[in-house]
Amino acid sequence: MEKTKFLDAADINIEYAAQLIKNGQVVGVPTETVYGLAADALNPDAVKTIFAVKGRPADNPLIVHISSIKSVEKLAHDVPELFYVLADKFWPGPLTMIVPKNDIIPDVTSGGLDTIALRMPSNPVMRKLIELCGPIAAPSANTSGYPSPTKVSHVLHDLDGKIPAVIDYGNCKFGVESTVICFDDEKTVRILRPGNITPEMFKDAGITVVLDDAVINGVKENEKVKSPGMKYKHYSPKANLVILEGDDLRVAEFIFEKCRGNDFCLIPMGMKHEHFSCRYVCYEDDPINMACNIYDNLRELDELGAKNVYVYPPEKIGVGLAVYNRLLRAAGFEVIKL
Ligand code: TXA
Ligand code: MG
Repeated sequence: MEKTKFLDAADINIEYAAQLIKNGQVVGVPTETVYGLAADALNPDAVKTIFAVKGRPADNPLIVHISSIKSVEKLAHDVPELFYVLADKFWPGPLTMIVPKNDIIPDVTSGGLDTIALRMPSNPVMRKLIELCGPIAAPSANTSGYPSPTKVSHVLHDLDGKIPAVIDYGNCKFGVESTVICFDDEKTVRILRPGNITPEMFKDAGITVVLDDAVINGVKENEKVKSPGMKYKHYSPKANLVILEGDDLRVAEFIFEKCRGNDFCLIPMGMKHEHFSCRYVCYEDDPINMACNIYDNLRELDELGAKNVYVYPPEKIGVGLAVYNRLLRAAGFEVIKL
């Protein structure tokens, strides 16, 4: 394929991208979380192309993006009342909800599962595309396993020449993927992937919420996972990452004593220390900005040629939990306890 066409978000370009999608092609698109790789969710061949372009395992299902609550009935059945309560509260936005799927959704889209993940995004370009094309299946627009893209340059780094076009909408507002939930029962939400809709936000809304154990502890061998994405190494740069677990002082001591020469550390801005003898990349101190930039930070480590990276993750509260989860997974759950 030729070079990927770089489109700005003018209406004419959105219409052009919609035409490509309707013709069964895949296009890089902005969302408020990360850039997505969009295809017609109801066209099995188009959806297969997504898997091929990303190198994504066939059993890892895609999120279907909608722009109207009316689409839910068409795509899913036995939808609990709580789904609509949450849709009312958090849609359009970074929340994905899993419900039983209707036959109209091809098996390739749902990775062979009988459920479907639904999300109503807020990004205006993505919404217009959905209005023009119908439901859009879109995973993050990165090579499978690599950090997700939060800028067009990230999409092109991974997929230039593999997709016909990408629409630019600047940096993504949130920077980590949507919160993914399923329903344990009529009243209980289970978080399978943390994001900007935080456990605290569910609690504040009076909703019972449980955090799936795999979010923090990973998937045990032979365990049946509730979300296939949980079992794959993900969000990882080429560099080998190790998580440092302990208080600020111990972590600073470890970095001071053990990290040398070609080692890197990934630490909060506030921890920067002129006496560290290794190189470092810093992430933002406040969780919202931290989330916005974390994938760019991970990609930067590769650009700097980092081989070994020691990571001091943020606290597991609020949006910090989502960043913690991505870093832990980028490190393949390799942790040094201090
Ligand atoms: O913010 C987002 O969610 C972005 C933007 C583009 O919307 N999309 C995204 O998609 O992150 P992806 O494919 O990179 O991640 C989707 C996650 C995967 O971990 C997948 O296993 C899980 O959602 N998932 C999708 N359908 C599911 C289902 N039916 N049951 C359980 N997990 C599901
Ligand atoms: Mg992804």
